[in-house]
Amino acid sequence: MLVDTEEAIEFLMKSYVELGKDAAAIESRIDVVHQEIAQTGTYTQTLEELTIGAKMAWRNSNRCVGRLFWDRIQVVDARAAVTVSEIRDALFEHIGKATNGGQIRPFITIFKPGSDGPRIWNHQLIRYAGYASENGDIIGDPASVSFTEVCEGLGWRGAHGEFDILPLVIQESADAAPTVIEIPPELVLEVPIAHPDFPQVAELGLRWYAVPIISEMKLEIGGITYQAAPFNGWYMETEIGARNFADEGRYNKLAAVAEKLGLNTKRLDSLWKDRALVELNVAVLDSYHKAKVQIVDHHTAARQFGQFETNEQAAGREVTGEWAWLIPPVSPATTHMFHQRYPNKIVKPNFFYQEAPFERTEITPVKRGGCPFH
Ligand code: ARG
Repeated sequence: MLVDTEEAIEFLMKSYVELGKDAAAIESRIDVVHQEIAQTGTYTQTLEELTIGAKMAWRNSNRCVGRLFWDRIQVVDARAAVTVSEIRDALFEHIGKATNGGQIRPFITIFKPGSDGPRIWNHQLIRYAGYASENGDIIGDPASVSFTEVCEGLGWRGAHGEFDILPLVIQESADAAPTVIEIPPELVLEVPIAHPDFPQVAELGLRWYAVPIISEMKLEIGGITYQAAPFNGWYMETEIGARNFADEGRYNKLAAVAEKLGLNTKRLDSLWKDRALVELNVAVLDSYHKAKVQIVDHHTAARQFGQFETNEQAAGREVTGEWAWLIPPVSPATTHMFHQRYPNKIVKPNFFYQEAPFERTEITPVKRGGCPFH
């Protein structure tokens, strides 16, 4: 696979200027990269390039409201991890270091680039399983049903509960078979959800994990594609309270919360959905705070995004964004983003979706229950 030389050079010029390097340094690096591409079809990025590239990719993520902290992500170079056990160890390390006992640190672990690099099949490193039963009922997270089927097809067997942590599914290279690996439970920090004023809410038995670590996207820096580059920040409470728990296509808990709050669910104009939504978000924030797990509320996040916009303008960069994602799903018009428009231009380096590896190949299900020899 040939690297686009122009993209490489454009990235080197932009990033080296940002890093404060002089013209001579930029020129000599471009010469070397030119030669390397001519000889091998690609080039190896320095750790410095990888680091600034990953930071720029976060800064350019139009859907992310948390970009104020783009410069503070810790970049782990895992390009030398090629066996499944090396990849697994790097992922376990990511989970542990990012979780940091609840004081969450943004991390990105970058694996070998190119189409023969590793793939992580999970959407996030930590996520809950979802099981569809014959009658159409779903236990767990409906968003995970197809991936959970993949895991069970590969021989994993979940507890079929509401909040089972899915295993990691790692493919060391394009032609390798995927390997299923359980995450050691002691690595996974979770928060039980309770409401500070309505103790009945805890009876719903809701919980969520501490750290969202997106693992399905590819990272593109200077013409190089990293198919496996899991990254994390910390949660904004609405992601959990207004989407994961509330969406009809997810845990769909608004009616159950409303019932615990004693709201009149017979009439839409009692605004029971809105009241349940707000209290659920209060519960998520209070529970994370009490568990000393870092989380941000949507008003603070909006302010932080405003600071990001100010900083970017001062640096002479245009702030690109995707409005529908930047506004919070709760009380959007209380934030400044709602009243503004953002150009949804794609600037690289950036993160991109890629085809899920398990949608490409038919997985032959592992037979269960019968005699293993027949
Ligand atoms: N919205 C996703 C979830 O609820 C996580 C996306 C990334 N979020 C973040 N705060 N970095 O799991």
